[in-house]
Amino acid sequence: MAFKTLSSIVLLAASLRVANAALTKRVTCATGQVTAHAQCCALFPIVDDLITNLFDGGECGEETHESLRLTFHDAIGFSPTLGGGGADGSIFTFADTEVNFPANAGIDDIVDAQTPFIQKYNATLTPGDFIQLAGAVAVSNCPGAPRLQFLMGRPVAKAASPIGLVPEPQDSLDKIIQRFKEVNFSPAEIVALLASHTIAAADLVDPTIPGTPFSSTPSIFDTQFFIETQLKGTLFPGTAGNEGEVMSPLKGEIRLNSDFELSRDPRTACTFQSFAASQSRMTSAFKAAMAKMAVIGQNTNKMIDCSDVIPVPKPLVGKPHLPAGKTMRDVQPACNISPFPVLTADPGPATSVAPVPPS
Ligand code: HEM
Repeated sequence: MAFKTLSSIVLLAASLRVANAALTKRVTCATGQVTAHAQCCALFPIVDDLITNLFDGGECGEETHESLRLTFHDAIGFSPTLGGGGADGSIFTFADTEVNFPANAGIDDIVDAQTPFIQKYNATLTPGDFIQLAGAVAVSNCPGAPRLQFLMGRPVAKAASPIGLVPEPQDSLDKIIQRFKEVNFSPAEIVALLASHTIAAADLVDPTIPGTPFSSTPSIFDTQFFIETQLKGTLFPGTAGNEGEVMSPLKGEIRLNSDFELSRDPRTACTFQSFAASQSRMTSAFKAAMAKMAVIGQNTNKMIDCSDVIPVPKPLVGKPHLPAGKTMRDVQPACNISPFPVLTADPGPATSVAPVPPS
């Protein structure tokens, strides 16, 4: 009896080892890189091409920022009542329709820049897959960013997204929260996705100052967006009276009304504040929310995990800080269950932020 029990344990251990080996099986591609699935091998040269030729050698600059924005504007195009295919590449396939939606203003630049790559690689990737792959590679250009998931296998879009599904900065917070709820995102997940605005600039909110960033460090995936959006607004960096814009705390920095509302509203303020001084909390929440966003409207059972083709981002540069010239008295805390983290200011004269140069 004891022998029988012992041999069943040995058998069980052996089969667990086999199962484990199958799970961790790796494929070495012809190019020498290792991945979990042979189908992912074709992506390594594409990733290299994107870094060299779309992202100027791996800069966390304008094309990187725009490629991340594009992942959102494609993916959010789904509504259970109105239709749309979510992250299906319809913003490319039906660009003639979608690019003209007011909420997609300015997106034509990156659609145009990605078009030759989408065409070149159309035997390997559908436009929906390409847009999310380019977004994940883009984020990896930014020091401090998490390594995003990438699943492959989105079918070609069948129709354009209906108009009105992409949130706008002048929308009420109720409307924004409701829009995200329709695609199954909580208020905390909206805030997590907004970490994207730490590597972002606006060209058209105030068209007199294109390339004006939302944080003082738009080439680093740090928490400064969450710190600086919590500072008292004192100026308009360009002209006053633009739709969707409110006062920002720094020269050369622009603030969206929607970001301001999300930082001050009781439904989202505590999540917003929780990212201000915690890089790891912010990056893990962003990674999880992006994984969910990248497959809105898609059947993940039919997709292959090719995350290991995404480069590992460089480590964070710098520490959470107040911009030079600011003190804790400039913070407008809005979370009523915990205090805003104590931060010190950079030394030197008041911070003035340089625009993100077009490339
Ligand atoms: C409440 C939701 C959101 C609103 C209202 C919003 C609005 C905006 C606006 C108005 C701009 C500036 C466009 C321009 O004038 O050039 C912008 C830029 C950007 N947004 Fe959002 N956004 C939202 C959520 C997101 C999400 C979820 C992502 C990605 C996951 C994202 C990524 C970006 C990026 C990377 C840029 C910078 C693009 C560049 O530098 O060219 N945004 N957003």
